[in-house]
Amino acid sequence: MSSSTETELIALTQKLLDSIANGDWATYSELCDPTLSAFEPEAHGQLVEGMNFHRFYFDLGGIRGPHQTTICCPRVRLLGDVAIVCYTRLVQKLENGTAMTTANNETRIWQRQANGWKHVHFHRSKV
Ligand code: GLY
Repeated sequence: MSSSTETELIALTQKLLDSIANGDWATYSELCDPTLSAFEPEAHGQLVEGMNFHRFYFDLGGIRGPHQTTICCPRVRLLGDVAIVCYTRLVQKLENGTAMTTANNETRIWQRQANGWKHVHFHRSKV
């Protein structure tokens, strides 16, 4: 795989994660395929499909106050027009005025479509 594709996919993933932290629905929905599927702790072991489940959290607004999202140790695998991006996601933020960090392992699947890479599936679990 060309390192430029790897760099592009990591940058897209960072953009996606920043859109989540900022409550930026326009960017998030532009990066995702409308049929996005996901396993995440909020869904209690259920596979959620489509964008509606995720929209709920964007409507509540992003992280309040200073925050920063870091992608640690990313690994990218290109399988034709599909890419697997794995990493640990660290989010630094304030809770009651005290700095804290959350850590999650994430696998995000991207598909190269006619209008660019689209996010089609992810799995998140707490570290
Ligand atoms: N819950 C939205 C996302 O992690 O993509």
